[in-house]
Amino acid sequence: MTNNNHKYLSVRVILKNTKLCRELFRKLKFLFSIKNSLHSSAKFTRIDGVLYHNSTRQFCLVLATITIFFSCSSGPQVNRGVIAEKGMVVSARAEASRIGTEILKKGGNAFDAMMATELALAVAYPYAGNIGGGGFMVYRKSNGDIGALDYREKAPLAATRDMYLDNDGNIIPKKSTVGAHAVGIPGTIAGIFEAHKKLGSLSIQEIFEPVIELAKKGVVVTQKQERRIKAFQKSFLAANKDSILLTKNWKENDTIKYSALAHTLERISKNGRDEFYKGETAKKIVEFIQENGGIITLEDLGKYKAKWRGPIAFQYDDLKIISMPPPSSGGICLAQIMNGIEPYNLHEFGHNSVKAIQVIVEAERRAYADRSFYLGDPDFVNIPVDTLISKNYKKRRMDNFSFEKPTLSKDLQHGNIEMFESNETTHYSIVDQFGNAVSVTTTLNSGYGSKLYSNELGFFFNNEMDDFSSKPGVPNVYGLVGTKANEIAPEKRMLSSMTPTIVEKDGKLYMVVGTPGGSTIITSVLQTILNVHEFQMGMQEAVNQPRFHHQWLPDVVRIEPNRFDEETKKQLEKIGYKLYERNSSVIGKVDAILVLEDGRYEGGADPRGNDTAVGF
Ligand code: DON
Repeated sequence: MTNNNHKYLSVRVILKNTKLCRELFRKLKFLFSIKNSLHSSAKFTRIDGVLYHNSTRQFCLVLATITIFFSCSSGPQVNRGVIAEKGMVVSARAEASRIGTEILKKGGNAFDAMMATELALAVAYPYAGNIGGGGFMVYRKSNGDIGALDYREKAPLAATRDMYLDNDGNIIPKKSTVGAHAVGIPGTIAGIFEAHKKLGSLSIQEIFEPVIELAKKGVVVTQKQERRIKAFQKSFLAANKDSILLTKNWKENDTIKYSALAHTLERISKNGRDEFYKGETAKKIVEFIQENGGIITLEDLGKYKAKWRGPIAFQYDDLKIISMPPPSSGGICLAQIMNGIEPYNLHEFGHNSVKAIQVIVEAERRAYADRSFYLGDPDFVNIPVDTLISKNYKKRRMDNFSFEKPTLSKDLQHGNIEMFESNETTHYSIVDQFGNAVSVTTTLNSGYGSKLYSNELGFFFNNEMDDFSSKPGVPNVYGLVGTKANEIAPEKRMLSSMTPTIVEKDGKLYMVVGTPGGSTIITSVLQTILNVHEFQMGMQEAVNQPRFHHQWLPDVVRIEPNRFDEETKKQLEKIGYKLYERNSSVIGKVDAILVLEDGRYEGGADPRGNDTAVGF
């Protein structure tokens, strides 16, 4: 924390903590900390991450004693999510969380469970789970080692900067979003095999077996899935030459058997990673994509490699945040936003209060303006990472912020840095019985990706090429604008917003968090961390909260419909903020795990989807 003065005691802190009725254990610890601190000579004392002024400590002791007594006897209980002692998987589908947990129970570690969960999502959640897409993993081992794996898709060798423009330089509608032209070289199989090779412990066959069984036995259609499949059927028929598995009239409680995918997985289980990139499956992929007018070749697949990267790590108060580096913008933007808001006392402003929303929105606006200008594939562009994530730079960027009125995005450009100093994705979070943690976000980009589905191979292909900036200044499907840094080039990785994140507190594992949501990913991860850290919520409670989002352009604050206080909305509009509520859908679908004070895990599975936490 850089600005301690903002965070000394207000009676509200105590009352709020108490109101939330933390576990008795925590309350007693708190009480003892206050008692012990009475003997200290320091001016301020940190208790539970909050600074208290000495003159208030006597008063605190009495007040805390009284409130602990009352809150534990009759106060409201924290609405906790699933609690587990040893290990946990939280993902978009119960089937995938169960398979991941079973792998842990068998003695596998978080990296084995990662491979199983990723594959199980490809079966049970074809909307975003995939083997035809890509993703990112951030990990923290029990010994504190951290790392990040990039298995993002790449542009094919034959890709060109203007491949989605017509002769007049205008974007050709849908070319970067639907069908074979939209597909980037898939990275998922390379990613999970790479993670397993370096960090896994069980055999590939042991991990694949329950997933193949699930695909053969089939997956029951949920109510949400029925609605979703119906909504997409027209697009499936438009993107494919034939009808596909999901163009049948599936109803809730039907069981869909994924036999073709089961065969593909059996081949990969038997022949390994190269089956997908060089073997029979590779040949079938290339044949299929080219028949549908795409440009991916065997050489493209053969050259694909997942890459280990150094995570973005930064401090916020007493937390260390570890997140994804480029080609995701997630870690850098998260650092920039958190650096921007750190000096303000959000806790005192109140959760989703006008002032808290203002501070967060203005920090977001500035970070997204920088994202658009500076960020792209680090193998192709120079990114001033150290400056962008430095506290000083963000302080400079926030200098013209005032509570009186918004900074208009039209008046705000990217920051000047001396060049250069030396809807649909899915997220899952895993902790294992050894203390390892894995945070993975994986995607096909849009729902069912390019909608292009191979009946023979049994999976959808991504439309990740739309994450490039097809034309400078023209927004992609998430309304994000880009410049040269994210223009298309052969073998380049498109910029992402995916933000798989791990948080440490006092040097120990504290939280595993991430979400889908395109450009809203970064801000959803941010709000979930803040809900726990600044507003003392439990994991499930933090995930459930209404969310808002600003991304520089368009200059609106997106808010989840019907979930924000009318008075807060009125005040924000009065100050000059444009709110976008109508037609705005859910923002993020967060799956997270919190390490409780007693060492157990609390899952936070987003009720916006069918997301489920399973632990043991
Ligand atoms: O990588 C990205 O930022 C996007 N392709 C993520 C897409 C996404 O989250 C869609 N989910 N709602």
